[in-house]
Amino acid sequence: MRRRITVVGAGNVGATVAQEVARRDYAEVVIVDIVEGLPQGKALDLAQAGPVLGYEPAITGTNGYEDTAGSDIVVVTSGKPRTPGMSRDDLVTTNEKIVGSVTQSALEHSPDAIVLVVTNPLDAMCHVAKDTSSLAKERVFGMAGVLDTARFRTFIAWETGASAKDVQAVVLGGHGDQMVPVVSATTVGGIPLRQLVSDERIEALVERTRKGGGEIVELLGTSAWYAPGAAVAEMVDAICLDQKRVLPCTAYLEGEYGIDGLYMGVPVKLGAGGAEEIIELELGDDEKSELAKSADAVREVVGVLAGSR
Ligand code: NAI
Repeated sequence: MRRRITVVGAGNVGATVAQEVARRDYAEVVIVDIVEGLPQGKALDLAQAGPVLGYEPAITGTNGYEDTAGSDIVVVTSGKPRTPGMSRDDLVTTNEKIVGSVTQSALEHSPDAIVLVVTNPLDAMCHVAKDTSSLAKERVFGMAGVLDTARFRTFIAWETGASAKDVQAVVLGGHGDQMVPVVSATTVGGIPLRQLVSDERIEALVERTRKGGGEIVELLGTSAWYAPGAAVAEMVDAICLDQKRVLPCTAYLEGEYGIDGLYMGVPVKLGAGGAEEIIELELGDDEKSELAKSADAVREVVGVLAGSR
């Protein structure tokens, strides 16, 4: 039987997630949105690409949660994206209401689902989804680190002229400008980045990664969707296929990395059980203090949430 994946939000990110997952051809995809006609139209278009691209047209669109019943994963992308001049954190009040209500509605019909949050501000929205549901922390987490790491890997591939496939990296912390690209854990074909690129250039790549989302917002007038959609699909694969991938995910920390009671980006083993294990990476002193600063920034946004704290 096909896995059932619900994508809430038929906008740029939601539609791209639906497309990427549909192309894998192991799942039935249900797209939900409040706008009438939008999820239905996008689902129809995606279904009709199936015969050309070689996947089954198992995609539907709906405005009601009854049609999402029995989903294995609910991907939450509903909410406002950034526009130029806005930080992700500016979205907090509007998106809090949206994420809270869609999480509740989706879980009414799919009580055993894993909730994968994408809406920004990501770390705070994971708190909203967890507080709204009574799901265990293993079943509520967010996507940011795979995207931020993909940006860092792209910039390193361009800098070194090496294949992006051979660039291994990890970006930790909150999904904001204080995120922490972990240079000590970054390699190109197994060779530490510091042996290949000067400290000055590394600092420039780190800075571009931190501002990577904003760079696209300035160019497009809204936030990115191709890389975010691909990043979510990689996480969906890891869960549905029980791959035990170790990927940076926004997970609920209870003492790991010295941080308690907060969602943050850390390496997680992802499998059928969701965020099965948080892995503690040994960090340099600078990286530890940057992670603590990033945690403070996340706490500040979480403190703005109306409902939960
Ligand atoms: P978009 O504006 O293209 O799509 C959002 C969709 O949500 C719209 O179709 C809208 O009708 C729908 N929506 C609003 N309220 C809803 C509700 N109550 N129920 C169902 N649907 C509802 O925005 P886009 O570009 O797709 O971005 C979505 C979110 O994802 C934003 O918050 C953005 O900041 C975030 N994002 C997060 C990333 C990450 O790394 N975690 C990366 C990129 C975007």
